[in-house]
Amino acid sequence: MSKTVYVGMSADIIHPGHLNIIDAAAQFGEVTVGVLTDKAIASYKRLPYLDYCQRSTIVTALKNVTRVVPQTTLDYRPNLRELKPDYVVHGDDWKEGVQQNTRQQVIDTLAEWGGELIEVPYTQGISSSSLIKAIRDIGTTPDIRRASLRRLINAKPWVRICEAHNGLTGLIIEHTQISTDNEIKEFDGMWASSLTDSTVRGKPDIEAVDISSRLVNVNDLLEVTSKPIIFDGDTGGKPEHFIYTVRTLERLGVSAIIIEDKCGLKHNSLHSSDVIQQQISIPEFCEKLKVGKNAQITDDFMIIARIESLICKAGMEDALLRAKHYIESGCDAIMIHSKETKPDEILQFCHRYAEFQNIVPLVAVPSTYDTCYEEDLAKAGVNVVIYANQLLRSAYPAMLNTAKSILIHGRAFEARQNMMSIKDIVNLIPE
Ligand code: SPV
Ligand code: MG
Repeated sequence: MSKTVYVGMSADIIHPGHLNIIDAAAQFGEVTVGVLTDKAIASYKRLPYLDYCQRSTIVTALKNVTRVVPQTTLDYRPNLRELKPDYVVHGDDWKEGVQQNTRQQVIDTLAEWGGELIEVPYTQGISSSSLIKAIRDIGTTPDIRRASLRRLINAKPWVRICEAHNGLTGLIIEHTQISTDNEIKEFDGMWASSLTDSTVRGKPDIEAVDISSRLVNVNDLLEVTSKPIIFDGDTGGKPEHFIYTVRTLERLGVSAIIIEDKCGLKHNSLHSSDVIQQQISIPEFCEKLKVGKNAQITDDFMIIARIESLICKAGMEDALLRAKHYIESGCDAIMIHSKETKPDEILQFCHRYAEFQNIVPLVAVPSTYDTCYEEDLAKAGVNVVIYANQLLRSAYPAMLNTAKSILIHGRAFEARQNMMSIKDIVNLIPE
């Protein structure tokens, strides 16, 4: 009987390196390729370009591949124990970096039935990472970007979003990464916040910045990034106007709009309680959600209903009641907001929400309860965590200090220690 060989791969963009591995594997026996699912890939790095179905279809068509199976975790062990291959073949590049542990697990597991790991020299001059970078440099399409939020929600334990109020903050979110022993961590997408969009224009967060101006910011983000954007739609305005906002955002490739169930003059939710916040009636808000859902053209765009009951002190029961009605009206996700300094009421909401028969993904914005870890929110059932204003809140004090320092000293030298160098700023954005 011929020997069996297992090869695990993401196979996002097939290149000669993949073919070399499969050819090498075929010399040892019949090749089964475990194609990593979106979830498996998202557990340690960025979501692949192509989805699992597209990737497995491509790999199935390759010469020397006998069959394709899904590998649902980065951990090879479940598939290996089921298939008990004689060999696993892999490029030797995983000896270092985030896959070291996975490699050791493969060696130990194969030893259980006398299997062997064969490592093929890494194909020089070509790598998925450099191809993916080249593709990202070219940009993305509205269709791919728009759909990516739903894919992320399906693939990740939680989706991590950060506020971006201009092209530069968009670039920070696009590129900032940290590496831990077993994963590369980054933000998954951007929040076009009404608070920060208004603040950078020197205006209050009361829907005084019109949608056209807000779209200028969105366009700046679209031009220099590829990650999904969630647009803060404030109250959504009149239903008749909301139709156009939905269609415009959808056409641009924005993934979602969040509208809040407030009416009258909208104030920012984080104000102290002496600012009166008025909540719209449930039927009126449901109608707005339905009008929006009917207006959209694609299935990918998401309309997210934001519940302000805890902000307005209308109580937990009101929040839960509204969630039920909004879900029935067809919203694609629920955002529950709070301005408490502890996450207790949010966690309590999550707990009760989990008992609903019919649920949609849940969004939380830990601005005031920022001691809460995103992982704990996710454990409670939150799917999307939005850091709604932190970049601007960091930038403003730094700029103010520099401005004061120049006034105090009559020159900029003293502020130099707090600034990036002229060389760094002129090279920050490559020509
Ligand atoms: C925003 O970022 O504009 C938001 C969240 O809507 S909050 O500021 O908490 O209202
Ligand atoms: Mg807002």
